[in-house]
Amino acid sequence: MPKFYVETYGCQMNFADSEIIASLLQKEGYANTTELTEADYVLINTCAIRDNAEQRIRKRLRELRAAQQHNPKMRIGILGCMAERLQSQLMVEEEIVSFVVGPDSYRRLPEILKQVRQAGVKSAETELSTTETYDDIEPVRLNSNGISAYISIMRGCQNYCAYCVVPYTRGRERSRDPHTIVLEAQHLFDQGYKEVTLLGQNVNSYRWRCEGDEVDFPELMRRVAEVSPRLRVRFATSHPKDLSDKLLEVMSQYDNICKSIHLPVQSGSDRMLKLMNRHYDSAWYLDRIAAIRRYLPDCSITTDVIAGFCTETEEDHQQTLEMFRKVRYDYAYMFKFSMRPNTYAEKHLKDDIDETEKTRRLEEIIALQGKIALENNQLEVGKTFEVLVEGESHRSKEQLFGRNSQNKVIVFDRHNVQPGQYVLVRVKDCTAATLIGELVEQ
Ligand code: 5AD
Ligand code: SF4
Repeated sequence: MPKFYVETYGCQMNFADSEIIASLLQKEGYANTTELTEADYVLINTCAIRDNAEQRIRKRLRELRAAQQHNPKMRIGILGCMAERLQSQLMVEEEIVSFVVGPDSYRRLPEILKQVRQAGVKSAETELSTTETYDDIEPVRLNSNGISAYISIMRGCQNYCAYCVVPYTRGRERSRDPHTIVLEAQHLFDQGYKEVTLLGQNVNSYRWRCEGDEVDFPELMRRVAEVSPRLRVRFATSHPKDLSDKLLEVMSQYDNICKSIHLPVQSGSDRMLKLMNRHYDSAWYLDRIAAIRRYLPDCSITTDVIAGFCTETEEDHQQTLEMFRKVRYDYAYMFKFSMRPNTYAEKHLKDDIDETEKTRRLEEIIALQGKIALENNQLEVGKTFEVLVEGESHRSKEQLFGRNSQNKVIVFDRHNVQPGQYVLVRVKDCTAATLIGELVEQ
């Protein structure tokens, strides 16, 4: 059996795609290996969101050149967002790449691998689709802890944020048949999984219409939550423009829908938000935060933010800091703006904030957020949470770690507890990133 090895970069969506790829290949008689040295095919599932994501892949390709010299039968392919962005040009720029396959062409992979091997040709498949959702493919869980899994519920994005490459690499938005989503959740639960995360670029615009059945995202959440009260349900990512009260209401009705919302703000300045084409302003965003607090008082809120977008002034930056002070996020993914080819920004705006200034602004946001995260965690000391145990703590075998509903990591002494169990843990102490607790007798 020919063997394939998969390496994944980028977002959760890409990790979910790698599991679809593994499933498609195994069905056609290819075996998965975790040993690079024995691979006939090395598949690199790539990200294109910022320039440094692409630079990392280029560096990895240089390393793989040496591996290929030891194993000349090895064929290397680039999949995912960078494949879609650069298409066959990538095989010209990077000689060791034999095939390039975009996110909507994975069904063609078995055939492409055969062609590359038998005919010795190079191949590029980067057509985008308006319908492909891989809804009939049961993913093969790669590097799984057997406890939590991703379920992809939709693909693509058509919000066209001015800075973002995703609409060009993942195509039009399309939702997956809800019946297949619920079945996948049920199968995972039957296999012993305790947590699923529903994934999409903008889950709030999930919508399925078929023979009088109309399912929107709140309804989908309800159906997945009904699989079992012992199956936790999470989701990512929400666009603030479409976060509905209806969703918050459904979240409040089910204990197993986790109380954690990722709501990327990107900037606190109305001028920047408009230029970014985000379709909301700071007042709208704060209204959505107030709605979350109203429906779900114990919900954690996390975000994404970009420092130094085109024309951003010191005043705009100060408004971002102000937004962070008002919302008091539990966690934030913080980035420097990186100009991406083909985006609205690249065509119409100038990347005019110099690197040192971007770094200064980013560091200011990071410092503020670090302080807020610590203060938020300090408020948790003394509280008791139900924790789903995920595994051994990285620091000590004597300790386990898990997450509470709010997605905060808690470490505690293991006693007789096993990964996969739900336990009650009382918080004794914390850092900005972790809660430290002790088991409560049950
Ligand atoms: N530069 C910097 N950050 C970006 N993001 C998306 N595009 C860019 C870019 N060109 C960030 C956004 C998004 C997250 C996934 O990545 O904050 O929410
Ligand atoms: Fe990267 Fe965006 Fe593609 Fe995910 S969808 S892999 S974040 S470019």
